Amino acid sequence: MKNNGKEHMFEKNDEIKSPKGSILLAGGAGYIGSHTAVELLKSGYNVVIADCHYNSSPVIYDRLKQITGVDIVHYNIDVSVEEQLDRVFGENELAAVIHFAGHKAVGESVREPLNYYQNNLSTTFSLLRMMERYQVPNIIFSSSATVYGMENRSPVREDVKTGSCINPYGWTKYMNEQILRDLTRANRRLSAVLLRYFNPAGAHESGLIGEDPKDTPNNLMPYISQVASGRLKMLSIYGDDYDTPDGTGVRDYIHVVDLAKAHVKAVGYALEHKGVETFNIGTGTGYSVLELVHAFERVNHVRIPYRITGRRSGDLAVCYADSTKAQEILGWRAQKNLEDMCRDAWNWQKKNPQGYREA
Ligand code: UFG
Repeated sequence: MKNNGKEHMFEKNDEIKSPKGSILLAGGAGYIGSHTAVELLKSGYNVVIADCHYNSSPVIYDRLKQITGVDIVHYNIDVSVEEQLDRVFGENELAAVIHFAGHKAVGESVREPLNYYQNNLSTTFSLLRMMERYQVPNIIFSSSATVYGMENRSPVREDVKTGSCINPYGWTKYMNEQILRDLTRANRRLSAVLLRYFNPAGAHESGLIGEDPKDTPNNLMPYISQVASGRLKMLSIYGDDYDTPDGTGVRDYIHVVDLAKAHVKAVGYALEHKGVETFNIGTGTGYSVLELVHAFERVNHVRIPYRITGRRSGDLAVCYADSTKAQEILGWRAQKNLEDMCRDAWNWQKKNPQGYREA
């Protein structure tokens, strides 16, 4: 690791000793990966990123350096191509892999299922092949609450039945979980931690890194941020006739920095355990669309024009986590609240109105 000697936003925590070997963040230049890189470095781990920048910007490495002072070793490669990944494993001693490498737009997955199945599964296959070849026995997988499908009541626990997914994106998460479960059964030296994210939101408090949707945002918080900045005219709220207190959909929004910290805990857990373990990563509290809109307006002193439209197909009324297991086993719980998410999302948006494109 190189350090340019400047002052940075954090002091490395030397109490946590970096394991022998770095943590590979496959698809690590994106929204969640970049925040995870910061928290891993802060906790004393070394980090390597492999990303083809399909849905991220190479500007991220400079931003990460501004935050951490570290020139992160990175590879502009396609994680699904074994020959390219082989170089990464050959040139670095790795202790664990975090697998963020996947397409994530729900609607696009319905229109282009083959691309989604091919990409989201082949990245897993090539990572697992390389882990086998280079004897790297630990993997953390970016899963999603989407694996709970339509049939479970919130707060949802990890041990309820999964499946009944409603789009190809969701099925790829479900299938990857199953692949990792089967592998840990067959190979007793392997450790896999499946993190089921709820609704990530917010940004690093510096405003240097944040969510940068490629096209018009599908998700609520980036959409609201772009309405606040004037880039989009008006928010459409997808239905106010759900069986919820104000009729709008309820979700478990989790600050991306809290989510990143959950990955640090998961890495620590994987290094010390074998087998497979699944954790919900949410706050355990649900907020409605209108509550989020009003919190954003209140915290940031802006107005969010909105109109109520019809329901979006495939949306649930309510989805929030029972996150007791992560608390008890990983010692992780969310520390930031909805106001923090709104403030940090807006700070990022104001400083980067066109995302990373202006930099
Ligand atoms: N919503 C609007 N207007 C918008 C966007 C969203 O009203 O412009 C509403 C939705 O109807 C929903 C809530 O805001 O009630 C949250 O919607 P998001 O699209 O932000 O998030 P989802 O809960 O639909 O999806 C998220 C992740 C998916 C994941 C899913 C299930 O984005 O990757 O949770 O875990 F699959």
